[in-house]
Amino acid sequence: MINIAIDGPSGAGKSTISKLAAEKFGYIYVDTGALYRAVGLYAVRCGVDPQNAEQSESILRDVSIEMIYVSGHQRVYLNGEDVTDDIRTPQISKAASDISAHPAVRQFLLDTQRKLAAENNVIMDGRDIGTTILPDAQIKIFLTASSEDRARRRYDELIAKGEDVTYEGVLSDLKQRDYNDSHRAASPLKAAEDAILIDTTGNTLEKSVEIIVNTIKSRIDCI
Ligand code: DC
Repeated sequence: MINIAIDGPSGAGKSTISKLAAEKFGYIYVDTGALYRAVGLYAVRCGVDPQNAEQSESILRDVSIEMIYVSGHQRVYLNGEDVTDDIRTPQISKAASDISAHPAVRQFLLDTQRKLAAENNVIMDGRDIGTTILPDAQIKIFLTASSEDRARRRYDELIAKGEDVTYEGVLSDLKQRDYNDSHRAASPLKAAEDAILIDTTGNTLEKSVEIIVNTIKSRIDCI
């Protein structure tokens, strides 16, 4: 199987770019953030503090998460319920970032991710795919952009969805999440040593997709 790992901070365009690239190559696009978001959603619904390691660990035995692919599009099921849309709120972004810091949570989601990559050609996006989940991925990309650029994109997305947010609020949430994601002890966000670094600051989406697709094409021929 061909495994392509795309890691990087939130808002660098990972999901949109990976989705379009996966369509081009006919691979499955796996958004691993959705797994952490589903666990975060469960915690919030149960009144569990996602920052509390013990409480977060204790809910895992009651959580079952499935990724289902409908015409190549990922749907996320939490205990049999389709929560694909419910996990995309600022509250759940924060809960996912907090809960993802606990090693027990990361361990709990490890097999789901590895199994998908073992059974399919995948473009998998996340924070630790190239470093921890798929260290043998044939292609690893670390995608980033300035925090202002990333916050602007996230702000536009949230406004389009009718969320009541300010650019300053989105920028400060994003910086906080970057800090959490890259300073946690368990699998922090960082580029794998053999990752190709791509900075999308100032690029249009089309330009970024073109760069990624060309990068993958140039390597895939050698696999
Ligand atoms: O990619 P995202 O913004 O949907 O991810 C939500 C949170 O989940 C993010 O703040 C960090 C965490 N996450 C992680 O720790 N490891 C991953 N592979 C993917 C996401």
